[in-house]
Amino acid sequence: MRGRQTRQRRAASKASRVLKSVSWRQKLGTDGLSTHLSVDGLCVRFGGITALDEVSFQVENRQIVGLIGPNGAGKTTVFNAITRIYEPSAGAIDLNGESLLALAPHEVIRRGVARTFQNVELFKTMTVLDNLLVGMHTLIDPLRSLVFERPHRRRALDMLSLFSLQQLANVPAGALPFAVQKRIEMARALVSQPRLLLLDEPASGLNHEEIDGLAALIRSISDELGLTILLVEHNMAMVMGISDHIVVLDFGRKIAEGAPDIVARDRQVIEAYLGEPA
Ligand SMILES: Nc1ncnc2c1ncn2[C@@H]1O[C@H](COP(=O)(O)OP(=O)(O)O)[C@@H](O)[C@H]1O
Ligand SMILES: [Mg+2]
Repeated sequence: MRGRQTRQRRAASKASRVLKSVSWRQKLGTDGLSTHLSVDGLCVRFGGITALDEVSFQVENRQIVGLIGPNGAGKTTVFNAITRIYEPSAGAIDLNGESLLALAPHEVIRRGVARTFQNVELFKTMTVLDNLLVGMHTLIDPLRSLVFERPHRRRALDMLSLFSLQQLANVPAGALPFAVQKRIEMARALVSQPRLLLLDEPASGLNHEEIDGLAALIRSISDELGLTILLVEHNMAMVMGISDHIVVLDFGRKIAEGAPDIVARDRQVIEAYLGEPA
């Protein structure tokens, strides 16, 4: 236990030192902007299956909101609805008062929403650095890209160093272990200067030490960069440890929400998890 706490503390101070030292706040351009996501009465159906049934919750500015629930509860479907991959049958999704449901997927990205995928979706034959440069395409004006390529490369390399990936910049992403690919995907999401970051099970495939480091990094990203984060995560210690607020889904319905310590003691939540195959 003590070893774990020491590891967490060490990882937290490293992440916060790196973030402070390079003044990422200006680099990411998130300074001074307030972010608020509102999901209201969201329903998503696939044929006869109701994946989401009248789900409502809010993500306040600079909060980390943990979205949890057993497998099949509808967590990834929430992300796919926000990023306009799935079309809801009812409900509203607003970012800073603007309806995302009126927008195309690329327009949602331009509003400052970035995500990672549960199963990692990188361009496997491209290098790690090129994957990040693709992540910045929303920022790059094709006509001016020649002039501005250098600052973008610089920013991508800075981001790689934040994730301790700088040595791998020129390696094809697909050649790297799953846990490393998850870090690359997160770096790619961040390099697009998002205001709202959606992370889908970032800790899966990581060992204890890596999870502690990642938890500290996510907390620092929120605290130091002022990002607002919606976090889907199966590792309870991690999600309960870094979230400000927890929303629990089960079979497409919201069964509980509140502070992590309250939600962890909720009878319905405990029953939902006990019913889940180990
Ligand atoms: N594209 C799809 N087509 C049909 N059913 C889907 C699709 N995506 C998700 N589902 C179903 O919706 C439910 C919720 O899935 P998902 O959001 O992936 O759950 P979670 O991420 O919480 O494990 C599941 O029953 C799943 O099988
Ligand atoms: Mg999922």
